[in-house]
Amino acid sequence: MTEQTHIPVLLSETLDLLNLEANKHVIDGTLGLGGHSLEILKKIGPKGKLMAFDQDERNLEEAKKRLKKYEKQVTFVHDNFEHLAEQAAKHSYEPNAILLDLGLSSPHIDDPERGFSFQKEGPLDMRFDKRQKLTAEMVVNSTSEKDLADIIFHYGDERKSRLIARVIVQARKKSRIQTTTQLAEVIGKALKGKSKIHPATQTFQALRIYVNRELEVLEKVLEQALKLLKKGGRLVVISYHSLEDRIVKNFFRDQTRNCICPKELPICQCNFQKKLYILTRKPIIPDGIEVSHNPRSRSAKLRAAERL
Ligand SMILES: C[S@@+](CC[C@H](N)C(=O)[O-])C[C@H]1O[C@@H](n2cnc3c(N)ncnc32)[C@H](O)[C@@H]1O
Repeated sequence: MTEQTHIPVLLSETLDLLNLEANKHVIDGTLGLGGHSLEILKKIGPKGKLMAFDQDERNLEEAKKRLKKYEKQVTFVHDNFEHLAEQAAKHSYEPNAILLDLGLSSPHIDDPERGFSFQKEGPLDMRFDKRQKLTAEMVVNSTSEKDLADIIFHYGDERKSRLIARVIVQARKKSRIQTTTQLAEVIGKALKGKSKIHPATQTFQALRIYVNRELEVLEKVLEQALKLLKKGGRLVVISYHSLEDRIVKNFFRDQTRNCICPKELPICQCNFQKKLYILTRKPIIPDGIEVSHNPRSRSAKLRAAERL
């Protein structure tokens, strides 16, 4: 098997903003192949501790090999980061810094068997966690036309969602759509025309987000991260599409307010206290050098905040 690789995105910016020092306790919610974690471990020294999550067993196992030298300091967790608080409590973990580098890793895109990419033929799977029952194949073949159109519209930001849902439903009446290239072909035929990106791009994004409940778990983990972080602790989130980035941006903004009462109320009744200080007024994005070296970083946006 060819060696798996994933170049960590915005690495030096991430390390700076996590504000790492010797002995710190860190949570990496998205271990992947351990690129960020390896550098975090170097910074926190032999007495530092890392709790590292990945819901993808294969990535977790690969990362374990790469971080072998540090294994005594790392608690590896094969779980969705939506269970961050539960897992942290189980291991009595109070982090000084939390990193979330969202979305896919390169092995997900490169391995056709995972079904994330329409470039190569593979089963329509798209699950990060193989223990989960729902696959993209089930969504594509069993969801009503209306619900399919809504998924493609909301999670893919696709204006032609209704047309795409219609052609999918027509095609599946003839035979089940089982592979990535079959689905891409059905969409490609319906959306002929000039476009810089493949016409199936947005639909594939939508299915992936839906299958893995990506937006729902992101909202959950942000709330939990806020409660878990020690005072002065840092939260760094790298997102790769506007739906994720909007959630992070709004969450950070809401936590910097001292009152969230409706404007109509003359006096504050919520007694809400701001809990975050935003460290990145605008999101940090990779520069031209990073993008040319790692084109998959091109859509990354990093936001960071400090717990007050
Ligand atoms: C962009 S990659 C992280 C790459 C990593 N920072 C590195 O440098 O190697 C995202 C990883 O997070 C995992 N992941 C995505 N969503 C997750 C979730 N909700 N819970 C746990 N792991 C998740 C994916 O399986 C993938 O391995």
